[in-house]
Amino acid sequence: MLAKLIVIFCVGVTLAAAAIELNPSRPLLFGTNRLIPRVATNQENNGTDSSTVWNEFLVRQSQTNPQNRIFFPIRYVSNYQYYQRGGPLFLFIGGPWELQQHLVEQGHFVDIAKNMSAYLVANELRYYGESIPVADASRSNLRYLALAQILPDIASLINHLKYDVLRDPEARVILAGVGFSASIAQWARKRYQHLVQGVWSSSGMVEASTDFEEFSEVVGRNIRRFGSDECYNTIFQGFGVAENLIDAGLSSTLDRMFNVCSPIKSEDSVEVEAFLNGIFNEIASQAVSVNLRETIDQMCQVLTDPDQPNGLTVLSEWLTGRFPDADCLVMDFESIIEAYQVTNWEDEMLRNGERQWLFQRCTALGWPLTSRSPDQPFGRRITSNLFMQICERLFDSWLSPEVFNSLVRDTNMLLGGDSPDVQRVYYTRGTLDPWRFVGVRNAYGDSYIRTIENVSHGEELDSISEDDSDALRSAKESVAREIRRWINQNPDPQPPFSEV
Ligand SMILES: *[C@@H]1O[C@H](CO)[C@@H](O)[C@H](O)[C@H]1NC(C)=O
Ligand SMILES: *[C@@H]1O[C@H](CO)[C@@H](O)[C@H](O)[C@H]1NC(C)=O
Ligand SMILES: *[C@@H]1O[C@H](CO)[C@@H](O)[C@H](O)[C@H]1NC(C)=O
Repeated sequence: MLAKLIVIFCVGVTLAAAAIELNPSRPLLFGTNRLIPRVATNQENNGTDSSTVWNEFLVRQSQTNPQNRIFFPIRYVSNYQYYQRGGPLFLFIGGPWELQQHLVEQGHFVDIAKNMSAYLVANELRYYGESIPVADASRSNLRYLALAQILPDIASLINHLKYDVLRDPEARVILAGVGFSASIAQWARKRYQHLVQGVWSSSGMVEASTDFEEFSEVVGRNIRRFGSDECYNTIFQGFGVAENLIDAGLSSTLDRMFNVCSPIKSEDSVEVEAFLNGIFNEIASQAVSVNLRETIDQMCQVLTDPDQPNGLTVLSEWLTGRFPDADCLVMDFESIIEAYQVTNWEDEMLRNGERQWLFQRCTALGWPLTSRSPDQPFGRRITSNLFMQICERLFDSWLSPEVFNSLVRDTNMLLGGDSPDVQRVYYTRGTLDPWRFVGVRNAYGDSYIRTIENVSHGEELDSISEDDSDALRSAKESVAREIRRWINQNPDPQPPFSEV
């Protein structure tokens, strides 16, 4: 019983480490802040379960060009353990990660499926894991990685599952997702109301943006709350001194303190941003993950060491101390480009989805994390320019800042941004999750928004546990109630039939 509790508590979402350590002697301090469902640590139920089955389903390489007759397999994993004939279909939508089996075996969505005798499926997003539509990941080959392709994939998969697998055209369909996958789920409901009867969106990221300045504010607030004001002030002071040294032409001091592999080119603002962003990213990765209470506490114990003379010194010692095997730290623009311009699917940067996710951010979603807000401790220099320059260099010169801005605007225009006007979506998000600021602002009809105090990104996906606060428990029960209601309700009201 105890083992079971521990296991349940281990589901959830984790932040892919900020640094990329393909080469531990030269870690790259740049990452795309992907959040991925944490790999379950369940030993009893991790693939040995015979009711969990891995499958593939063919979809079109181009869902928008009828002349393109190429198909490729999308992977999905299903669990029929709880299914009874006539029961609903529960689909956990794939995001920027490799498909994970625990999504159909553990967590609150699975518990609700069990209660409703549902057939459980989780799919893999095209271009991630092994659901690969093209021979390599060259920039022109990434063109089928777009929402216009992704949403029809979901529709085809639902049809396949209803007609070919369950052989039940009446089966009701409930989608769930976390972060970007929750956004796909919501947009699928918006676009295919006849196919999707309801959505649970956990921390859905729906409003594309060209400057995501609230992110660092939430990171700062989390540091104050689970670390201390002193810890926050140390970071504030460290960034301030670093910026002053650069302005004073003394960046060689920073080169030494932070043990950078190539000296900071302080006359180039993009290089300065890349350096400061490297430090920011590493701190942020401690402050948004599911176990942020512990990671922030550990970080702040080092940062508030009373024996250290000043913020910058202690910041550099904390950062370099995180990479004990490193000869030096890579924090320059050219190295970021080099690491991300790989095209072989076997390459780690593609297997872990980093390049693909950056492409999606550059061509549709945006979300450059910046330090422009006065209400955060990471200096004032990190702007969306760094992100846009990376996009332009990596994915072609047509992707200028102007084009980037217009692509982000188009995404919101086509999908509704923070006010998507879609019904029967239950939105949950935690106050500790910085991504909630690109979440939905207005709910329509019988959609709900539930903001839960003291909860991090995706934490509410876990099974109900005795450790849950009252607010968390009540939110989870409310999601379950709503999903039951959607399933038991009559189909969506149809407009009255009228003969001309
Ligand atoms: C799955 O569980 C078995 C034992 O039940 C264990 O040997 C194996 O390492 C586990 N696999 C993973 C990926 O955790
Ligand atoms: C499902 O959950 C509801 C509410 O908690 C409960 O009344 C019902 O008995 C459950 N049904 C099954 C089959 O577990
Ligand atoms: C916040 O959540 C953590 C972990 O669930 C818990 O230990 C802590 O008591 C909670 N704090 C408040 C103020 O609710």
